[in-house]
Amino acid sequence: MGTSNCSDDFKRDAVHHITASGLRNLGLSEEELASFSDPFREGMMQEDRLRRLGDRRKSNWLDTVIEGGPIWSGNVASAAHSESVKADQTDDETSVKTATTVHAMVLLYAQERKDVETKTKEIEKLLTNQNVAIVHSLPLVLDVEEGRNFSREHFGFADGISQPIPYDEPRADSKKTSAVEVDGKLALEPDPVRGVRLGEILLGHVNGHQEIPPGPMVRDIADNPLPEQNDALVFRDLGRNGSYMVVRQLHQDVPAFWKGMQEAASTLCKQDSEAKDVDATWVAEKMVGRGVDGCGLRPEGRIPNGPNGEIDNGFRYFDEDRHVTGCPLGSHVRRSNPRDSLAPKEDMKQTLSDAANNHRILRRARKYGTKIENKLEDDGKERGLLFICLNTDIARQFEFTQQTWLMNSDFSTLYEETDPLIGPDGEMAIPVEPLRYRAKVKTFVKLVGGEYFFLPSVNGLRYLAAL
Ligand code: HEM
Repeated sequence: MGTSNCSDDFKRDAVHHITASGLRNLGLSEEELASFSDPFREGMMQEDRLRRLGDRRKSNWLDTVIEGGPIWSGNVASAAHSESVKADQTDDETSVKTATTVHAMVLLYAQERKDVETKTKEIEKLLTNQNVAIVHSLPLVLDVEEGRNFSREHFGFADGISQPIPYDEPRADSKKTSAVEVDGKLALEPDPVRGVRLGEILLGHVNGHQEIPPGPMVRDIADNPLPEQNDALVFRDLGRNGSYMVVRQLHQDVPAFWKGMQEAASTLCKQDSEAKDVDATWVAEKMVGRGVDGCGLRPEGRIPNGPNGEIDNGFRYFDEDRHVTGCPLGSHVRRSNPRDSLAPKEDMKQTLSDAANNHRILRRARKYGTKIENKLEDDGKERGLLFICLNTDIARQFEFTQQTWLMNSDFSTLYEETDPLIGPDGEMAIPVEPLRYRAKVKTFVKLVGGEYFFLPSVNGLRYLAAL
């Protein structure tokens, strides 16, 4: 479904992701599908998942979803549910259908747009021969700025900076091997702030709960490309070295965002004659929780990036900004990864930091749509972020981040406010000495479509191709 004109850290030019109904169509049995995780099997459009994600209440789409509801998904819940309901029952309460059904997503990577287009045509031909149609296509961009290490999302902020750093268990046979390399070095020790077990990102490895969760498991086949695990088992582990991928197409209203920031700034300046630094950019940076160029916000002001543009990401909040006068508690980055800031006292910093690291996601978002020329003028063009993240436990990682941190109106000590970037109309508290400002926010981001996908390992892909 997606295309991107950039080189990518996946180091392959095409990556394949499949929904639960896509796997069913490829020939996996119901018994095999049952070994995949619940959120994946139910799909993003299942009512309970939509409720957790803050997309829908009872039969109403919330304002953070485009009018009429999302236009695409895997329609996974509908398919699974309709098989189990009796003919006289309706499945209205448990699943929502989107007009377009996506069974699989192919991400194509290349340096140049024309190469992506050529590849897309080749793939389209192959797919047509197999009776498979391209139902949704999005040209994606990663335009890393000259002399900087980042690309900006449409609101203009450096994005994709803060990531968890997975580390591997030393293997029994050799202490010096690891599936993970960071800056050319084997990652065998946890990074003190960002370290997560490899099993948080790749299935089949030890995760943050010190276990290797089983599955998904599939039947043995002739010339099985999946490694044997135990002679007594007739099932093989399809999950190992694969992952679950969350995709949400998020429309961004850039003029609404910057006009909103201007209005909020002028209101705050009227309320407080001391508010000399307060302008639209100041408010926007407080809402994101970083400067537009990615720099950290601290009580003493912006922390400049390093001489080669390095952006500080090894920080913790408890020591550096305990009273939240630098990076607000309700800002997007402090909600989406509170690090140790929820520690009630000094000796609980590490515990709370470790607890937060049990909910990390590896983000791989890409922009779609052209850059807006005048950020205050609506040009009527569709643009946004194809939010993509990898995790092995969708409920504990992605859904928890969205539900318990970002969209939680009572997050930590806050009251009746949600994430200022991706949440609905409301307010946000911005602590400043001696107390706080309350800035108005509108709905700037809306869900267009989305689904949970399975990203198989190379052997996993070979297995599926052999079915
Ligand atoms: C259009 C929607 C979104 C925009 C424009 C956006 C923008 C940003 C920006 C500018 C940053 C700071 C730079 C960085 O560390 O990469 C960031 C960080 C982050 N965002 Fe988002 N984001 C969006 C949606 C989401 C969603 C849906 C989630 C998860 C449910 C999410 C999770 C995160 C996380 C985990 C971080 C890193 C925080 C840290 O570790 O310090 N974002 N985002």
